[in-house]
Amino acid sequence: MRTIHSLKELRTILRGYRRQDKTIGLVPTMGNLHEGHISLVRKAAESADVVVTTIFVNPMQFGANEDLDKYPRTLVEDQEKLEAAGNTLVFAPPVEEIYPEGLAQQTKVIVPEVSDGHCGASRPGHFEGVATVVTMLFNMVQPDLAVFGEKDFQQLAVIRKMTRDLFMPVEIIGAPTIREDDGLAKSSRNGYLSAEERKIAPVVFRTLEATAEKLADGRTDFHTLEGEAEQSLSAAGLRPDYFNIVNSLTLKPASPDDHELTILVAAFLGTTRLIDNLSVTR
Ligand code: PAJ
Repeated sequence: MRTIHSLKELRTILRGYRRQDKTIGLVPTMGNLHEGHISLVRKAAESADVVVTTIFVNPMQFGANEDLDKYPRTLVEDQEKLEAAGNTLVFAPPVEEIYPEGLAQQTKVIVPEVSDGHCGASRPGHFEGVATVVTMLFNMVQPDLAVFGEKDFQQLAVIRKMTRDLFMPVEIIGAPTIREDDGLAKSSRNGYLSAEERKIAPVVFRTLEATAEKLADGRTDFHTLEGEAEQSLSAAGLRPDYFNIVNSLTLKPASPDDHELTILVAAFLGTTRLIDNLSVTR
């Protein structure tokens, strides 16, 4: 497995693979890799000859008061995990390689509607940053397929919509959320939690499960269910950002005759923002 930092080198190597008619799978990440990320690499390797994992903490998708500076950077450990998972190439560019003229000069990709609400409402500009960098990575790597986690449900919806709308020739593959034994969704941000907070964190998934059960029983009083869930989160010591029951395709508020529902949650535990989701078919 090779790790490269320059776009020029990336293009040279990928040209070689394409000449050999090898299919290319892309796994975009911000590094500090855990089993969730690695499951995406394995999934990409099932369908593509060559897997390119990118590691880039994208400044454009972070708000002014967010964790860009303290976001964990662990390239050496990440490389070991990727090698063991059958990854072919790591592209870990410095910021200047991606934004040579700076963020203010950068052309942006905006995906309306599906970026509104939920994380898009709490983190203005976030999905613009994600859509823009993913477009750039698609153009740099020109993959046949790209794998994204369902853990970031709204992000996956934004990327699917962008890919369709702009006729990007990339197959988007979603991969299920990998969890700790107690249900907490694996996340690089879990490392910010104190020991005390880590004990409380699984309440997020337990609350999703409790709500999913009520939905599966046929309940349609969505606002009441959302309110009850927010109360459970608060009682456990979390500060809910949102808890929304939505139509899985549109991400708009659920209506009683929807069959595919998704519960989206974001909540603060201390200063750490945790997100998770759970889908229900009924
Ligand atoms: P990052 O948070 O590093 O996540 C990279 C990919 O891993 C995303 O597709 C995310 O959904 C997936 N992922 C994270 N935790 C997961 C889990 N527990 N189970 C399964 N998949 C999981 O998401 C980003 O980076 C960035 O926004 C990016 C797409 C790279 C653009 O900068």
